[in-house]
Amino acid sequence: MRHLNPTLYEVIQEWANDLPIDYEVQREGNTRDNLHNSKEKIVACLIEQFPMSYRQSYEVYSDLFNQSEIFSVYHSLDTINVLAMATGSGGDVFGLIHAFEKYFKGKTIHIFSVEGNEDALQSQTNLFKRYIEGNLIANKVQLVPIPAVIQPGLRGLKEELKDRCFTPYGVEKFDLMHGFKWMNEKSIRGWFHPYHFYAFFNYHLLPDRVAVWLETVDLKSQYQGDRSLSQRAIFDYVKYCHHFQEKNHLMALTPTPCIARHLSGKRKQCEGCLGCFDEIDTYVKSMDERANRWQGQSIFVMKFASGPLGRELSKYLQDEHVGYQTAFFNGQPHFCTLNSTKEMKKVANAFVLGNLSKQES
Ligand SMILES: C[S@@+](CC[C@H](N)C(=O)[O-])C[C@H]1O[C@@H](n2cnc3c(N)ncnc32)[C@H](O)[C@@H]1O
Repeated sequence: MRHLNPTLYEVIQEWANDLPIDYEVQREGNTRDNLHNSKEKIVACLIEQFPMSYRQSYEVYSDLFNQSEIFSVYHSLDTINVLAMATGSGGDVFGLIHAFEKYFKGKTIHIFSVEGNEDALQSQTNLFKRYIEGNLIANKVQLVPIPAVIQPGLRGLKEELKDRCFTPYGVEKFDLMHGFKWMNEKSIRGWFHPYHFYAFFNYHLLPDRVAVWLETVDLKSQYQGDRSLSQRAIFDYVKYCHHFQEKNHLMALTPTPCIARHLSGKRKQCEGCLGCFDEIDTYVKSMDERANRWQGQSIFVMKFASGPLGRELSKYLQDEHVGYQTAFFNGQPHFCTLNSTKEMKKVANAFVLGNLSKQES
């Protein structure tokens, strides 16, 4: 993010300097109970989490918009309505806005941003007004903050959206939906299942659109949820496809080939796998400003496309001779093919669509 948005980065650094000298930024900025964060903790998260979320979101959406079929859909829209869930101070939202700026011009973009911690949402609105909105040259973005605590099973969310989005804006279905790093939050951990998320996306996402769900993965975490998230996500997706059948128009595109293997009944080939994840590094300033440091995080990203677009794109991901890099264990890349009995002839990243388009495959 330092390179993507240096001004914003400098501002965060200034706030950091106002924290008490002995404040444990790394610890306080990396909890799983962010819903109840104090203002100081929100600053700690701005240092520890925000730049990574910004970068990851920018990379994820650049990959999607880089795909010619997806680009064409969004290129043809005048207005783009986005629903973003549990957005904190908005690293994920601003990374998306940055990607929109890179790929599109002249769009009106409404971002309905749901967040349960009102101070974090206020920080997001302030950052947007001071450091994002004024710098936009390609698109007109309106950020609509929606303070709401999302309940397990997404109960009550529709009522909140009705008052702040469906009725005032006449928007009930979205052009893009996302949720970043909140499934293992203490407020819902264990009560909220990815299954609910898929059903919600399936209902509220327009056909021929994209959605993203991104979470951090930590195989050494003390929380069971952090270690098993990717397996749960895939398992629930298969269950959800089975239940929804023809009512489902949500196709999961990544991680390939993990999903395709499970859907096609080759699940046994994944036994013993610790999970699939990608790593995106961010280069950040350390708190004492004497040196810069790399901040790395493993992430699990599900990219979805709906309707005919989803069906078309998922066809490109069926080459049995591609070895997909699904993880990196002990310094070694880990590859899987769609069918483990087939020989790997070329390689790709399990989370990246960009180079798998029809023209290039
Ligand atoms: C780790 S932060 C991620 C923030 C942002 N999505 C990002 O990627 O930078 C998790 C966010 O989820 C919010 N959150 C947690 N539980 C929530 C709930 N039940 N309803 C709404 N927001 C919630 C927290 O307040 C926090 O801002």
